[in-house]
Amino acid sequence: MAAPHEPRADDPVGHGAHTGAPCMTAAVHVLTHPLVQHKLTLLRRKDLSTSSFRRLMHEISMLMAYEVTRDMPTQLIEIETPLETMRSPVIDGKKTVFVVIMRAGSGFLDGMLEVVPGARVGHVGLYRDPRTLVAVEYYFKMPHGMPERDAIVLDPMLATGNSAVAAVERLKATRPRSIRLVCLLAAPEGLRHFHAHHPDVPVYTAAVDRQLDEHGYIVPGLGDAGDRLFGTK
Ligand code: URA
Repeated sequence: MAAPHEPRADDPVGHGAHTGAPCMTAAVHVLTHPLVQHKLTLLRRKDLSTSSFRRLMHEISMLMAYEVTRDMPTQLIEIETPLETMRSPVIDGKKTVFVVIMRAGSGFLDGMLEVVPGARVGHVGLYRDPRTLVAVEYYFKMPHGMPERDAIVLDPMLATGNSAVAAVERLKATRPRSIRLVCLLAAPEGLRHFHAHHPDVPVYTAAVDRQLDEHGYIVPGLGDAGDRLFGTK
């Protein structure tokens, strides 16, 4: 039997519930590292306290930052070791901008900043219209100089994909050098929808779950990430 976080064999990762269109493409990176998978399993459990949920989100986001920054450009600088001078690679953290989709995206931020402390942070405020599930924008603020920056969008739950599609559309208007999206969980429907609009934006996720339910929640999922992070339910 498939592990609970994997799509079922009759609803394969590569296809999804409602169409034959593939959701798994070269632009989808599932982070299969055992530490990521272990922490995700803990996060899914419904009896986890708010403080433990927050701590695990922090830990998993540090691990995911490691993967999403894997091909970040480096430059050689001259340094002195205790023995001699050498040229050695560094990343320019200031060129990175973490783009938080409020509010659950902020749960990902601290861990990412711990790994890339020089990064800048942008915010996109969107709410899901409960009737239509369409994303409506109420806030948008990015650092200046976006054309020199690599944007990493933080949105823990890629469910319908509406928020991520809208956020990335707005972000593209600022012309960042590159864009990638990090989520904790994705639904096949969300991946298909997102890549139908933004095939050029790679998605990094810890798992692709089975499907969305009738309320737009990812199942099996982990519930409402914002409520679980902030203890608002
Ligand atoms: N947002 C969440 O927090 N959880 C879901 O399952 C879907 C959207």
